[in-house]
Amino acid sequence: MKARVRNVRAGDLEQVAAIDAEITRLPKPGYWAQIHRRYGSGRRQQRFFLVAEAAGRIEGFVIGEVRDWEFGSPRCGWVFAISVRPRARLAGVGSRLLQAICGRFQRLGVTKVRTMLARDNQLILSFFRSQGMMAAPFIPLELDLA
Ligand SMILES: CC(C)(COP(=O)(O)OP(=O)(O)OC[C@H]1O[C@@H](n2cnc3c(N)ncnc32)[C@H](O)[C@@H]1OP(=O)(O)O)[C@@H](O)C(=O)NCCC(=O)NCCS
Repeated sequence: MKARVRNVRAGDLEQVAAIDAEITRLPKPGYWAQIHRRYGSGRRQQRFFLVAEAAGRIEGFVIGEVRDWEFGSPRCGWVFAISVRPRARLAGVGSRLLQAICGRFQRLGVTKVRTMLARDNQLILSFFRSQGMMAAPFIPLELDLA
């Protein structure tokens, strides 16, 4: 059955958290309720938390938002999480989720979408490249504060 992409509901959070825990092996108690409050509930005009549902089951999710003038850049869409349940992969669910959030960004007049990924995450790199995403003219920097 083809997955349908829609806005997240509070009742989806348990499945979303389970997909994330299966992928990252790191359960995050409290985190998903907080993300839902910030991105998924009420009228959050620049923030999006979407899920793909097939036969009543959540198969994947995507979260992102439109940000203005950060890093000196005109407004653009940021995708900061996308995950598909391992058993539902390679069936177009990830592509559908990305297209859906890009469609939401476009409705806000955004013409550029960005993301960031771990250098050694070949899977997510292959996926984003397959969607036409290219290296951006930015350099991420970090500093240990511990
Ligand atoms: C990346 C991910 C979202 C892709 O979801 P998906 O539903 O399998 O993606 P699609 O079926 O739409 O695949 C689209 C394209 O991506 C590429 N791709 C996807 N999985 C791939 C794999 N295992 N190897 C190589 N390319 C792959 C392919 O080009 C594919 O097109 P094709 O099927 O015509 O070859 C999913 O694999 C995932 O959740 N991975 C873990 C993500 C993660 O690490 N999240 C934590 C950080 S945000």
